[in-house]
Amino acid sequence: MYLDNAATSLRPQNVIDRWEEISALGTANLHRAVHHIAAEATEAYENARKAVAEFVHAPEAEEIIFTSGATHSLNLAAFGIGEAFISEGDEIVVSEAEHHSNIVPWQMLCSRKGASIKVLPVDDAGRLRIELLPGMLNGRTRLVCVSHISNVLGLVNPIPEIAVICKRAGVLLLVDGAQGIVHQAVDVQALGCDFYAFSGHKMYGAPGTGVLWGRRELLEKMPPMFGGGEMIETVKWDASTWAPIPRKFEAGTQNISGTPCLIPAIEILKQMPHGNEVKAFVYEELQKIDGLRLFGATADLSLKVPVFSFYVERAHHEDLALIMDKMGIALRSGQMCAEPLMDRFGVSGMLRASFAPYNTMHEAEYFLSSLRKAISMLR
Ligand SMILES: Cc1ncc(COP(=O)(O)O)c(C=O)c1O
Repeated sequence: MYLDNAATSLRPQNVIDRWEEISALGTANLHRAVHHIAAEATEAYENARKAVAEFVHAPEAEEIIFTSGATHSLNLAAFGIGEAFISEGDEIVVSEAEHHSNIVPWQMLCSRKGASIKVLPVDDAGRLRIELLPGMLNGRTRLVCVSHISNVLGLVNPIPEIAVICKRAGVLLLVDGAQGIVHQAVDVQALGCDFYAFSGHKMYGAPGTGVLWGRRELLEKMPPMFGGGEMIETVKWDASTWAPIPRKFEAGTQNISGTPCLIPAIEILKQMPHGNEVKAFVYEELQKIDGLRLFGATADLSLKVPVFSFYVERAHHEDLALIMDKMGIALRSGQMCAEPLMDRFGVSGMLRASFAPYNTMHEAEYFLSSLRKAISMLR
């Protein structure tokens, strides 16, 4: 039973079929040749850009940059933002609940530029302390980086509210949407952010695919992170010039087979029901287990997605994960790429069960009874 959907989702048949179709029949590189197979491959790739733009309500398809995943998107953003907008002494605010992918690129940028990071804390339940944000922004703050939904806490952050605070202070807002894109209908314009990054493989698409959306006027000012084929306008020995967005950011051969699979992935995502019944059941039942501390608890379950991270007293998370694996249940254990959040809660790691709409009530019941059994084996 697969309950590690926040790490990567299962891939539906329509996505696998499309990948096989392109890989078997459509071998050609993009944007380069005049032959018809190349034209078809390019069309499939560019149609995916249009589909993603429509899906996230981007004003223009050219604002969609294809990457290999959220990590690549965030690094690309950090490089370009750093070169275009960050100087020595500037500040970047990053939330305490971020995945390492939305921490480390900003640290790298800060050490390159002589800038610094300020941490927006979470409260004991894991909610962002938004009330502190206005006081953290000053004349040197250039950017706020926050996830739409934390991969540990499963809480939906109030992005529109954060965007209003950022806009008032003249600060850019970047949203890590790696989990948000899976569980929320994303409208980047309604959210009010300046950048939104996500991966294809968590939203039922192919591994090695991802997206960075950014506002045109910002992307146009940002230099590319990688140089090479297809990202240039002209190449001369004294200097080269860049192609317009999005190609400026897509150097070299792209994911010819994977990226077009974002179209069937989006189709599936739109059809997926929201498993509120399973979510409410698991949420209630987990809290009845003796010595279990659930992180990301909230009175309003509409603000929580079915990502449950917890710590069990006198039962190590790795031991529990191994026993649960023997019982046929795949869970995530450890720091969940969020070491600062583990430090905040004073734990060395957690156990995480993350559900997708294809997980049934029967599976939820089996998970809970198995967890109770596994805990009793260790105590
Ligand atoms: C919130 C969040 N951000 C970023 C990432 C990184 O995604 P990827 O490994 O697909 O690049 C993840 C993956 O778990 C995530 O959950």
